[in-house]
Amino acid sequence: MKLPALKILDEKHKILHTKSKEVSFPVDEKTQALCYDMIKYLEMSQDEKIAEKYNLRAGMGLAFIQLGIPKRIFVIANENEDHTFEEHIIINPKIISQSEEMVYVGEGEGCLSVNREVEGIVPRHARINIEYYDFAGNKKTMRAREDLAVAFQHEIDHLNGILFVDLIDPKNPFKDMENMREL
Ligand code: NI
Repeated sequence: MKLPALKILDEKHKILHTKSKEVSFPVDEKTQALCYDMIKYLEMSQDEKIAEKYNLRAGMGLAFIQLGIPKRIFVIANENEDHTFEEHIIINPKIISQSEEMVYVGEGEGCLSVNREVEGIVPRHARINIEYYDFAGNKKTMRAREDLAVAFQHEIDHLNGILFVDLIDPKNPFKDMENMREL
């Protein structure tokens, strides 16, 4: 399997702090092909041997803006217990409801655009309902919970020019920890 040649931008690129634009439909074939390349990249990055061979960090989500393309699209590849993947291609998403319960990833969040150790936790909703579109422009809804909900919130933030590190107060990186559940 050949690793898709994607150039993932580091956080020093200012474009990562800009808001991406709504996508119009139908989505062109080139953009669709890029989505599948991104998913393939993520799945390969989660395979230890391949990751070692190509010196990759494991990632479960990637937004177009991380490739320098300001379109409101992201993909997620979430590994199941049987090593197959749950794949999502999400266009023009909107969070329509969210749980009051807040959670955080205990080991801290990671991002393929943040190439350094970051101390601190990010408050996230434990469950969210979103609306989004497929390539043809059909409106869909989905519910995400736990780790998948965190991944969706992290990626939706990318579309709004926000990196997870922006959500950590450096003076108090574990703020409100006691009011949230650890994942
Ligand atoms: Ni990220």
